[in-house]
Amino acid sequence: MSPQALVKLHAEREHQQFYKDIVSGLTRQQKRIPSKYLYDQRGSQLFDAICETPEYYVTRTELAIMQEYGPAMAARIGNRSMLIEYGSGSSLKTRMLLDHLQMPAAYVPVDISGDHLLETAGRLQDAYPEIEILPVSADFTKPFEIPVSNIEVEKRVVYFPGSTLGNFQPEEAVALLSNVRQMIDRRGGLLIGIDLQKDSLVLHDAYNDAEGVTRDFTLNLLLRMQRELGARLDYDGFEHHAVYNQRLGRIEIAIESLVEQEIAIGNHVFSLEAGELIRTEYSYKYTIGGFREMAREAGLLLRRYWTDDREYFAVLYLTP
Ligand code: AVJ
Repeated sequence: MSPQALVKLHAEREHQQFYKDIVSGLTRQQKRIPSKYLYDQRGSQLFDAICETPEYYVTRTELAIMQEYGPAMAARIGNRSMLIEYGSGSSLKTRMLLDHLQMPAAYVPVDISGDHLLETAGRLQDAYPEIEILPVSADFTKPFEIPVSNIEVEKRVVYFPGSTLGNFQPEEAVALLSNVRQMIDRRGGLLIGIDLQKDSLVLHDAYNDAEGVTRDFTLNLLLRMQRELGARLDYDGFEHHAVYNQRLGRIEIAIESLVEQEIAIGNHVFSLEAGELIRTEYSYKYTIGGFREMAREAGLLLRRYWTDDREYFAVLYLTP
């Protein structure tokens, strides 16, 4: 099957899964929608726009760390490596690694958004003709097949930037890290970007930007439900809700129902009270020590980490 045909098949399965997850998520006592559904084409664009807002320091800070220490990280990764990136998005940070990677090398971007993925892969292939680029359209929280490379790969290194792991609850995060550990086996490594705990106000503002881009990003889920599932709902009856829970070290994001109302999808009708929340995301903030412990539970040892002056963000290298 052609890559395009595979992407299409994948999209159909995703659609069915989306429907199932929305119905079961809205049926729960505490309503929720898995955060991966935020990233359709418009959602991915909105996320890129969030990264440009002055309040959202995350991407800017990580990029600066990659810019400064990319060569050191690439040296750790070594040559004859297969770099497997989880949730490749627009692959901007990846360039900071690819620029310094020793050849030969293979790069495997793994992303749930098929369109975004092929676009990015194409652009990267043009920029790095000597690197073998093997895109995989998949949900990396589930097992997926690693493509066969033409080069003889000595080790696999998973690159998981953007603090995306922060979207997962600690138990899920440990399970995901264990999967990574399995996949890279003994010789491999994990290079991961994590957001660090910091001043509550800085965190609050990062998820409540003045321009309202984060609001649009969260509420895009409602539009996606209307468009893809034919959901009947009043878009204006909802609002973006994001608070920092200091005790649990996480931002809690939800769609808030402003009034008592209903969402109808097919034969299903879901009732919402005024003020009721539909959880869409957690964004965990870590300490280096706390993260090290969590990774150790998954069989990964912290070897080195790089951070910025304010210690807002860190990129860690771990091995089995
Ligand atoms: C892509 C999961 C790292 O948690 O900061 C940004 C997603 N949501 N603003 C984050 C997000 C709202 C982002 N991650």
